[in-house]
Amino acid sequence: MMDTHTASRKDDHLRINLENEVKSALTNGFEAYRFLHQALPEIDLEEVDTSLTLFGKRLRAPLLISSMTGGTQKAAHFNQLLARAAQEFGLAMGVGSQRAAIEDPSLEDTFRIARQEAPDALLFANLGAVQLNMRYGISECQRAVDMLAADALILHLNPLQEALQPEGDTKFRGLLRRIEEICTKLHVPVISKEVGWGIGVTAAQQLLDAGVAAIDVAGAGGTSWSQVEMYRQRDPQRAQMILHFQDWGIPTAQCLVEIKQKFPNACLFASGGLQNGIDMAKSLALGATLGGIAGPLLRAANEGYDQLSKLISLILEELRICMFATGKKTLTEFDKSVIAQVQ
Ligand SMILES: Cc1cc2nc3c(=O)[nH]c(=O)nc-3n(C[C@H](O)[C@H](O)[C@H](O)COP(=O)(O)O)c2cc1C
Repeated sequence: MMDTHTASRKDDHLRINLENEVKSALTNGFEAYRFLHQALPEIDLEEVDTSLTLFGKRLRAPLLISSMTGGTQKAAHFNQLLARAAQEFGLAMGVGSQRAAIEDPSLEDTFRIARQEAPDALLFANLGAVQLNMRYGISECQRAVDMLAADALILHLNPLQEALQPEGDTKFRGLLRRIEEICTKLHVPVISKEVGWGIGVTAAQQLLDAGVAAIDVAGAGGTSWSQVEMYRQRDPQRAQMILHFQDWGIPTAQCLVEIKQKFPNACLFASGGLQNGIDMAKSLALGATLGGIAGPLLRAANEGYDQLSKLISLILEELRICMFATGKKTLTEFDKSVIAQVQ
């Protein structure tokens, strides 16, 4: 059985994200960039093509519904809505940490529903990398992948979240070698991500050397897990201590630009505080292969499928307009030549 702590933590996370302001005190950093308008684009808007192929799957647009949930009935409901959207719009999607279902197989359906709803989507399994130091190995990683016939496995890195959680796992020593072992042995690509404080150049280098196929920088500027943990904290003095971390982390744009500069060929995803299609478009122009959004899509899904579908349509329309108004027909052409840093 999944211990009741894990179940109530999952639902706590959903409830707190939906009912409270859990934003980082930092911005995502994309406000420092503007597109270079092209008054003579010499293409028709309807010619703009946002499709791409990644890990063998064709996507109609480079939007990632970032890893969020699973493990409870409420979580299954969100996974169903989010996966339905991934299928309808031809997107990528990650489920939340599957640890609960590894511990208690009766919960597998709360994750598996994502593949049932999205048979053609690029789907990412998810486990906390630190579990590799607790006792997880290749077999748990393979089970997570098999559970949803995932196209890749995300191992998330969340040292600060674990340190602020009362029940956190903070044994991070030697983790890189274990990630490397999973990269070597697993038959699908391994992706590494943060959860909202960003991956800097040093960590990116370590992860790329270990063999990850992609990095989602998951930077600061959006959902702040210190804020979520602050709302879970009953002791006011400890809550005050946690509040001090509201401006922690590396803004998403900074992670992306710095890693891309050092490793131009690395496959990078950008999540963390993307508010709309323009932020997503900026991340793509600055070198991301996918732009990821979590919190805003969860809040839209909470209003029902129509709201979620409408928000995604608008985000994708914004991206197409950004490409049109910079004169770029394809994502390959839509590169750093279309964007400049604001002085
Ligand atoms: C409710 C919720 C649950 C999340 N759970 C996970 C998780 O289990 N695994 C993970 O890698 N990231 C998780 N994240 C982090 C997101 O995938 C994303 O990296 C981060 O929230 C930044 O994106 P945002 O600012 O658009 O929310 C979660 C985010 C939210 C909002």
